[in-house]
Amino acid sequence: MVRERIFDSKSNEATMKKLENFLLEVFDHIAQNGFDDVLNLIPIYEELNLSNWQSLLDQKNGKPINTTIFKSDQIRMVIIYWDGHQQSSIHGHAEGGGLIKVLDGQLEETRFDPEDNQVIGKFLYTPGSMTYINDMIALHQVKNPSSTPAFSLHMYTRQPG
Ligand SMILES: [Fe+2]
Repeated sequence: MVRERIFDSKSNEATMKKLENFLLEVFDHIAQNGFDDVLNLIPIYEELNLSNWQSLLDQKNGKPINTTIFKSDQIRMVIIYWDGHQQSSIHGHAEGGGLIKVLDGQLEETRFDPEDNQVIGKFLYTPGSMTYINDMIALHQVKNPSSTPAFSLHMYTRQPG
């Protein structure tokens, strides 16, 4: 189970502790208010500062790879590695949405109208920048505009089933 792997790994202890405290706050919030959307977790997510998040990353052939750092029935947290100029497809985030926070580097996001696919906005995010998206708001494409790698922390609502 992912959760055990995280907390048992040799990664930096302070970072683990921060992640653990963050998750405790999240669960506390969910216990008190119920849960239907990561939007409601923004105030807690905003405060999360995983100073040594690099220690959480899995690697393959000496390169960091996208790493799920936590998974429960309600949420999933992933650190995504963006190679220079790497970009995602145009995609959506179903009910419950997703939060993105840039950890390092820059990310450029293009948002598309979910009805007619017209571009409705372009945004540049730098470390600490945060954004929320779901299918009602927009579809999006995310891109690392520079040749320097970028990393982002994502929190998604998990759909039942
Ligand atoms: Fe996305």
